[in-house]
Amino acid sequence: MKKRYVVVLAAGQGTRMKSKLYKVMHPILGRPMVGHVVDAALGAKVDRVITITGFGADVIKDYLGEKSEFVYQEEQLGTAHAVEQARDLLEGQEGTTVVLSGDTPLLTAETIANLMDFHEREEAKATVLTAMADDPFGYGRVIRAEDGSVGKIVEEKDASEEERLVREINTGTYCFDNEALYEILNQVDNNNAQGEYYLPDVVEILNEKNEIVSAHTLENMDESLGVNTRVALSQATKIMRERINKQHMINGVTLIDPENTYIEMDVEIGRDTVIEPNTYLKGKTVIGEDVFVGMNTMIEDSIIEDHAEVTQSVIENSIIRSGADVGPHSHLRPKSEIGEGAHIGNYVEIKKATIGKKTKVGHHTYVGDAKVGEDVNIGCGVVFANYDGKSKSTTTVGDHSFIGSNSNLVAPVNLGDNSFVAAGSTITEEIPENALGIARARQVNKEDFYTEYFKEENK
Ligand code: UD1
Ligand code: CA
Repeated sequence: MKKRYVVVLAAGQGTRMKSKLYKVMHPILGRPMVGHVVDAALGAKVDRVITITGFGADVIKDYLGEKSEFVYQEEQLGTAHAVEQARDLLEGQEGTTVVLSGDTPLLTAETIANLMDFHEREEAKATVLTAMADDPFGYGRVIRAEDGSVGKIVEEKDASEEERLVREINTGTYCFDNEALYEILNQVDNNNAQGEYYLPDVVEILNEKNEIVSAHTLENMDESLGVNTRVALSQATKIMRERINKQHMINGVTLIDPENTYIEMDVEIGRDTVIEPNTYLKGKTVIGEDVFVGMNTMIEDSIIEDHAEVTQSVIENSIIRSGADVGPHSHLRPKSEIGEGAHIGNYVEIKKATIGKKTKVGHHTYVGDAKVGEDVNIGCGVVFANYDGKSKSTTTVGDHSFIGSNSNLVAPVNLGDNSFVAAGSTITEEIPENALGIARARQVNKEDFYTEYFKEENK
């Protein structure tokens, strides 16, 4: 088989995005656009991926790392000039070169592989991936010759009125015979409306030399969406969301309302899990089987084991063990672990704490920097006071303990197994195993207080 190379164009600033962030680093469902493009290229099993960087070169390089080689384009003089930058790496080498745009994130590995196969079968010097657009505005138009072959590509800004009516567009994706590409690339000039070296001009040059230029038309126009503006970014996000959600449903996950469920690229979900609307699952989240994710939930970089339930809550970088339940309206901050069958009810905040098996933290409680044992009951309104204004300290609570409502556990403090805390206590010292700690003022009743107090008024 021929060697296959990919050149990804990612040097542009993306002026039309009006953003501090470089265009190709704008994420779609948790992955920067250029990541989607490079992953698709790698999925098509190519021998080399070379990314052309300019604006944001370091950021893009850091992000892609080992996945690509990099060439720096100092000045962005156009797409042909960008491909020219890889000359030292590719010139004279036998093989097929695919050029992809870093801002075309919906293109699939399958499409890229099909394009290369088609191109090689046709023995063409260039093959343009085209699509039929409902609204071709902004894209280069594919102008067919009389025999139906591709004559040339004209950019929006250079097109005549008649040419603008053409609905067939250049997707910005091409296959070239690598040797032929670098033989003619420096013949491209910049005599056009934008004063740029246009890669699509290669088509006309090859035609003049009577070389074979072919076109492959995408069935699914969606894939060719080029993201130049935030409007297109939202369209791409919608299409990507539909793709991801559909795959999860095919795999056996119930999405009550897929239109209002956002699942990022790397999230895994087991069978028979049910996900309610307005849920956002992010990062490297792994959700088991038979999990229930109730509405308005955000889960990021977390593990939710089988049979767990999370409702109307925010879960960050935490683990919820099998059969545990969280919410409504609770917040697990990073490094929290909720044990098997434990119950975290409403308005509970947990930070960097482990909660043992079957322990209950039902209502209005803050647990920070703590290790809470198994089968513990934490009453309403308990505060783990972990911060003294200077540093954070930890609290441990032994198995089978009972923390009465509205208590403060002032860290650092240890409570042994089977310990009790009387409601309303402020605990600052250790409670040994099996002991009850009471730390509050004694109640005093003043008899006949009311009548004494209102004596004057009642006369
Ligand atoms: C380009 C095509 C157009 C096609 C469209 C599809 C040209 C001249 N036009 O237009 O025919 O319909 O894509 O989406 O190619 N880039 C560089 N270096 C440069 C210039 C651009 O790396 O010097 C990169 C950009 O970062 C971007 C990609 O090339 O990722 C395409 O450039 P862009 O300016 O977005 O081209 P379009 O106007 O969209
Ligand atoms: Ca573009």
